[in-house]
Amino acid sequence: MDDVAAIGMSRRGMLITGAACAATHALPAGASERQQGPSAAPPVTPVRLTVNGSDKELSLDPRTTLLDALREHLHLTGTKKGCDHGQCGACTVIVNGRRINSCLSLAVMHERDSVTTIEGLGTPEKLHPMQAAFVKHDGYQCGYCTPGQICSAVAVLEEIRAGSPSHVTADLTAAPPLSEAEIRERMSGNICRCGAYSNIVEAIREVAGRRQA
Ligand code: FES
Ligand code: FES
Repeated sequence: MDDVAAIGMSRRGMLITGAACAATHALPAGASERQQGPSAAPPVTPVRLTVNGSDKELSLDPRTTLLDALREHLHLTGTKKGCDHGQCGACTVIVNGRRINSCLSLAVMHERDSVTTIEGLGTPEKLHPMQAAFVKHDGYQCGYCTPGQICSAVAVLEEIRAGSPSHVTADLTAAPPLSEAEIRERMSGNICRCGAYSNIVEAIREVAGRRQA
């Protein structure tokens, strides 16, 4: 007598049971709850933000990223979702003067914070100097990375003015130079699949008003 027969189950029954278990494990997450009926709505949390100078009050699922709050709830779709994993920089916005990847930050973490998106930098009629420089120097091709590039570039110049060193700053006691190496390092979190990097650097250097080797 083998082990299967010893526990009173036929080989066919064993196979059917095994297949049923495998199918259950293959169900998408949440499928079992759907079969049991609708679950309770997720709780919402009030969030107050100042976005491009306007006060906004939102009621959000606390898992909502700042990126989704901007795009899906405030309909500010200038900020782009590239990777949604902090790897491309397409979602860069400026929060309280510092650039962040909005896909990596929950909206509820920014209660009463001041958020600037590409829509808040300039308008088609009155471009921000960095926007105008990107146009002048062809700092884009498809344009998908461009809002993040421009927000990042604006913040980079503030970082340099404030004397914040980067990984390539040689002298930590002096003001960081506005060299191409500094700009490329500081902009390295913003990926451009079209490869417009050299033109982006030119645009940033023009706005900075300095051209150093
Ligand atoms: S979408 Fe946020 S870093 Fe790529
Ligand atoms: S302009 Fe196309 S990804 Fe940068």
